[in-house]
Amino acid sequence: MDDPLLPALRDVVGTAHLLVDPDLRAPHEVDWTGRFRGSARAVVRPASTEQVAAVLRACAEHTATVVVQGGNTGLVGGGVPRPAPDADDAHHGVGRDVVLLTTRLDRLDDVDEASGSVAVGAGATLAAVRAHVAPHGLDVGVDLASRDSATIGGMVATDAGGTRVVAHGPMHDQVLGLEAVLADGRVLTSWLDAAVKDTAGYALPRLLVGSEGTLAVVTRVRLRLRRPPTDRVVAVLGCRDVAAAVGLLAPVRRAAGTALQACELVLRAGIDLVVGTTGATDPVPGAGVALLLELAGDDGPEPLLARLAALDGPPGLEAIVVGADEGDRRRLWAVRERHTEAVATLGVPHKLDVAVPLVRLAELLERVGPAVAAVAPDATVHLWGHAAEGNVHVNVVGPAADDDAADDAVLALVGRLGGTISAEHGVGRAKVDHLHHTRDAASIAVMRAVKQALDPDGRLGPGVLLADSP
Ligand code: MLT
Ligand code: ZN
Repeated sequence: MDDPLLPALRDVVGTAHLLVDPDLRAPHEVDWTGRFRGSARAVVRPASTEQVAAVLRACAEHTATVVVQGGNTGLVGGGVPRPAPDADDAHHGVGRDVVLLTTRLDRLDDVDEASGSVAVGAGATLAAVRAHVAPHGLDVGVDLASRDSATIGGMVATDAGGTRVVAHGPMHDQVLGLEAVLADGRVLTSWLDAAVKDTAGYALPRLLVGSEGTLAVVTRVRLRLRRPPTDRVVAVLGCRDVAAAVGLLAPVRRAAGTALQACELVLRAGIDLVVGTTGATDPVPGAGVALLLELAGDDGPEPLLARLAALDGPPGLEAIVVGADEGDRRRLWAVRERHTEAVATLGVPHKLDVAVPLVRLAELLERVGPAVAAVAPDATVHLWGHAAEGNVHVNVVGPAADDDAADDAVLALVGRLGGTISAEHGVGRAKVDHLHHTRDAASIAVMRAVKQALDPDGRLGPGVLLADSP
């Protein structure tokens, strides 16, 4: 232990929770996709807000930078340390960044049924929180496929969206308050249990949602809970082509009304890949594009089925397959939810999570393949996403991890279509050089000013979100 930071961290968390052995650090030095790899100075696992504050103070004292990591399910490299500096560096062979793991911050407070909320630790997984609140007939408004590993803190950091945004909004609509520790160890304490209505000053929790670990370390979160409807129906609409599927979005909204819980889009190539790699059943063989809808209500399945029946007719809608019981619903969802794992079997994907205004969605879906082919002719492109928000997951497999040509082509196209380079995964390290496609110079300057105000020494999330942060 030559590094004087290490005994300081050990004093805070104890030997068992300071990981310096390369084998123990390794799982925390690579992201889920395998595209982003780095080296940590150490991995530290604090168990309380006080320990997080003490860790950050020790890091400040020893000029260490800090990367916050939760379940390590992020897709843009924001939760992994940077590569080790070159051999000339004093820390030769060891990374510069301390990985602060939040997984021990997993306390679940009693559910507050009167306000419909619960306070949970940032390291609690989404699945654990859902299981905790379910006996009260409540649920979290955001759901996503990585629910068993994704932590609430990570979901706050990226402003995660998932499959229920059409009904409940993304993570920022679920956060009633939070507690966070600044880079110098000061704790923002007055927001976790604040009144539901609170306009006393700048809404700092809202600022921290989506800040990707660059402004503060979120330690606890008060989540707004939802009372889930009792009945659900899933339908897969087989569509002739992209234009037909996009043309259905308005009729779907009209027919489903407030019953609409999810509206997802998959393409033929993706369905075939999922079927081929996971053994899932193709619900709409022959359809070029499919929309998956989930409708829910409290008056039995019949009114939901009647809403779906009202959809029959628009040109290009070729088939409707309905699943009303739990098993069928799961089978239909599998074709959509298993895209991420299916694409991972092809290689290391470049994940470009973009969104455009709905009037440009068909154009994006049609132009993105040719845009990639122009700069990376051998690449494979898979597209799927959250149709109701115009959110498309562009997955490009083939280019080397550090070859950004396809990324830039896609993100520039999205910028020209008036869209965003990050709809729900964050900017991370993956898109840090592409922010200008979405944000004007004045906005980026304000972001830098905020970063400077909260983290003047650039200790948190170096190289994440804002280019050339230290
Ligand atoms: C999804 O919705 O499937 C994920 O957010 C996207 C991905 O794996 O690219
Ligand atoms: Zn998604």
